[in-house]
Amino acid sequence: MSTDGLLAHWEGEPVQVWERLWGVPRLEVYRTISSTNDRVRELAEEGAPSFTAVLAEEQSAGRGRSGRSWHAPRESSLLVSFLLPSPDENARALTPLVVGIVVARAVEDVGVGPATLKWPNDVWLVGRKVAGILCEAGWGAGFDPSRQVVAGIGINVRQREEDFPPVLRDGAISLEMAGQTSVRRAELAGRLVTRTRELFSPAPSRLEGELAGEIRSRDALRGRPVVLENGVRGRAAGVAPDGALVVETVAGPRRVTAGSVRVTDPRES
Ligand code: BTN
Repeated sequence: MSTDGLLAHWEGEPVQVWERLWGVPRLEVYRTISSTNDRVRELAEEGAPSFTAVLAEEQSAGRGRSGRSWHAPRESSLLVSFLLPSPDENARALTPLVVGIVVARAVEDVGVGPATLKWPNDVWLVGRKVAGILCEAGWGAGFDPSRQVVAGIGINVRQREEDFPPVLRDGAISLEMAGQTSVRRAELAGRLVTRTRELFSPAPSRLEGELAGEIRSRDALRGRPVVLENGVRGRAAGVAPDGALVVETVAGPRRVTAGSVRVTDPRES
């Protein structure tokens, strides 16, 4: 894993001050790192406790879902990974969705919203992606994948329209573009930690009660025409208690448990 500079200060304060204020057991902040997810995985293999956090101003090999890369100009975003408790298979399946709620709540905490969720874990503002989440479990000495998971979060904070590559421009947005206001990344990070602790103490194994209600009210797909990765078309009909996306197709309801779906223009459906 390559790194360039573990920072002693971030956003005007010593890193230990943020560690104490946020109440995380361990916090590392890098100027550049290959991927914050990789560093958290390394710490997990050394036995780090849950809620350990790694932040970076820039990633040289940031990863997105489905083997894609994740680029963000230096200091434009909040790039952070947490080590989260994951007591069983069911909880692990829900982690990306629940982290989506964490991010949506934190974004609204700093005054931008409403934030919606595109299954399984993109966070949207006004129909454009403001944050992506990559959850990974790894194997190695000391890291028991049945007990912990790495959750990496990338939130677009300061980008302007022209900072996104042309191919992403129509579908991406930053907090400052959406809210037309400046956002303090340290405040956003603090809110993320608070919301993470709130939702992962303990990690839920089923979407029910308040959590199910929130998933429903934030669901950006519900009722919309979608196409699955295998080309099957249908209409999104909500998220099941185990985290599967339910899609109504001509052949009946279908549960989608992996991959992602694309919203199609209503005229295409
Ligand atoms: C996606 O939408 O494809 C997921 C993007 C996840 C990006 C974050 S940035 C912090 C963490 N480190 C990584 O390498 N990826 C995640």
